[in-house]
Amino acid sequence: MGGDKSYAEHIPVLRDAFIDALFTDPDGYYVDCTFGRGGHSRELLAKLSENGRLLAIDRDPEAIAEGERLAEEDGRFSIVHADFARLGEALDEKGWHQVTGVGFDLGVSSPQVDNAERGFSFQKNGPLDMRMDSSSGQPLSQMLERVSERELADIIYRFGDERYSRRIAKSILNAKHEGKLNSTSDLENACFHATPKQARHGGAHPATRTFQALRIWVNEEMDQIDVGVNAAMEHLKPGGRLAVISFHSGEDRRIRDLIEAQVHPCKCPPQMPMCVCGKIPSMRWLQKKPVRPSDAEVAINPRSRSSLMRIAERISEAEGRKLAGYSGGSL
Ligand SMILES: C[S@@+](CC[C@H](N)C(=O)[O-])C[C@H]1O[C@@H](n2cnc3c(N)ncnc32)[C@H](O)[C@@H]1O
Repeated sequence: MGGDKSYAEHIPVLRDAFIDALFTDPDGYYVDCTFGRGGHSRELLAKLSENGRLLAIDRDPEAIAEGERLAEEDGRFSIVHADFARLGEALDEKGWHQVTGVGFDLGVSSPQVDNAERGFSFQKNGPLDMRMDSSSGQPLSQMLERVSERELADIIYRFGDERYSRRIAKSILNAKHEGKLNSTSDLENACFHATPKQARHGGAHPATRTFQALRIWVNEEMDQIDVGVNAAMEHLKPGGRLAVISFHSGEDRRIRDLIEAQVHPCKCPPQMPMCVCGKIPSMRWLQKKPVRPSDAEVAINPRSRSSLMRIAERISEAEGRKLAGYSGGSL
């Protein structure tokens, strides 16, 4: 399947755990919101019957080209070029009002990082781009034209958990003003020299967290997660599953809070003897703690090292009412 060399090289993260969490029905309708090179999609298709269907989404035109090849081979599969914040619209267009499972494997794919021209990697020299959808939006070079030092430091701190965010932001903007910020190597250099000498070696490369933060910013990834994960939960049928893989503690916290808001939606003060806000749970955790890769998986697929997966299930309105302590009738 798929003659793309990058597919052969790409091992999907948490492959078995992701499929086990999502898959409940061979005749079900599923959505893979982050097709990439289709590693997870192909695993799901292998489990579907002739009646089952899989819709994939990706914002990257190169991922779409690979998905279109797969759609030609397999009539149960289709793909749309969109960001997953448009999941609700994509489902409406298909006429799929309720689905059996929705999966997300966030971040960038190996082929995106490996292609220097995309500008995601500090290990390969390339343009300051970092857009997952290179056909729309603004590349990093343009985004840096209109950001203040303070805003940039906040971005690097919030999306990268980078303790030297202020020094790094200053160094990046100084390099820009001197005309010395024209490539990913220049950006890497600015991060490296802004990091105190004693912190430059030993752990991750000093540019790792800043590159991650800038990618999240350029692609508005946090807003995408809010809209996409909420739309996924809304469109699940009772018993339908949600699985979200992330690679960064800030993303994981965001996903946990979005799901938790549906698991425990009650806003009544704790001193109230019973709930009066009328908010009924619509999801339940399949596992309260995030799923992590085993040591064996990390040994085979080092990219999975920092992955965390949140898994939850949609519950029926009757189950939600029962959990909230309502016996029946209207609230
Ligand atoms: C980690 S890769 C997915 C790999 C995939 N599970 C596989 O096994 O090949 C993430 C993919 O999601 C896409 N992506 C990330 N954020 C997206 C968003 N907000 N909307 C649509 N696609 C997105 C990226 O373009 C990339 O192709």
